Amino acid sequence: MSNDKLETITAKYWQKRWSQNEIGWQRDAVHKFLVKYVDELTDYRSNLRVFVPLCGKSLDMLWLADQGHHVVGVDFVKHPIESFFEENNLTFSKLFKVKLAAACEQIDVYKCEEKQITIFCCDLFALTVEDVGGKFDAIWDRSSLSAVLPQVGDRGKRYTKHMRSFLTDNGGYMVESHRYNVDCGGLPPACIPEELMKEIYGDHFIIKELDVEKFAKDPKRSSFAFEYSLHYHLLKPKTN
Ligand SMILES: C[S@@+](CC[C@H](N)C(=O)[O-])C[C@H]1O[C@@H](n2cnc3c(N)ncnc32)[C@H](O)[C@@H]1O
Repeated sequence: MSNDKLETITAKYWQKRWSQNEIGWQRDAVHKFLVKYVDELTDYRSNLRVFVPLCGKSLDMLWLADQGHHVVGVDFVKHPIESFFEENNLTFSKLFKVKLAAACEQIDVYKCEEKQITIFCCDLFALTVEDVGGKFDAIWDRSSLSAVLPQVGDRGKRYTKHMRSFLTDNGGYMVESHRYNVDCGGLPPACIPEELMKEIYGDHFIIKELDVEKFAKDPKRSSFAFEYSLHYHLLKPKTN
């Protein structure tokens, strides 16, 4: 698929995936590598502000809130946000038509009544640190980087610069990325080789590989029936 076509993978594409329940990424348990590496991510600190970009209805938000952190998510599709609350028996209050600091659009913000979770329903790139009430101490990026197609044009560097703007200088950023050797037409989840990681994160972050999980070819799977691996990196901001 050409880069021009890939640029059209926007809200409509994701809305369709949600409405057709094509959400193979959804997990029914907390992510095991988040649990394994949370102390490295938070540097053993408690009561942090944690950002979950492109959150969908991830249970990781609930788990992070249960660890005592204040969680902020963002997703531009309303359906998973409302499902997240309903499926976890949580109630929310909705702030209608909140004006974003650097964009014309007005958006809805969902605030959980029982836990410290707030979800912004808007494009990640329209959201600024001003809108979310200040910088975050930690970012958990699971299938967010790979969903924004960082291999296309300047998207990768735009994304990492944006992420850096949300993070405190002593914050931690953990990211999951996919690697495979087949041509998927460039669709999400993008393949992110080591060189691309270095190219897009290297200016702003020190990169440390934490873990790799390899998956064998599995013809029974409807998607990702080929060999692939998931890589986990911890990123620390460069401060000079
Ligand atoms: C692959 S899913 C990942 C969901 C979640 N991180 C998880 O672990 O289950 C990507 C999500 O990002 C949302 N999304 C994609 N691009 C976005 C953007 N630019 N701004 C806000 N949300 C976006 C989609 O609606 C979708 O719910």
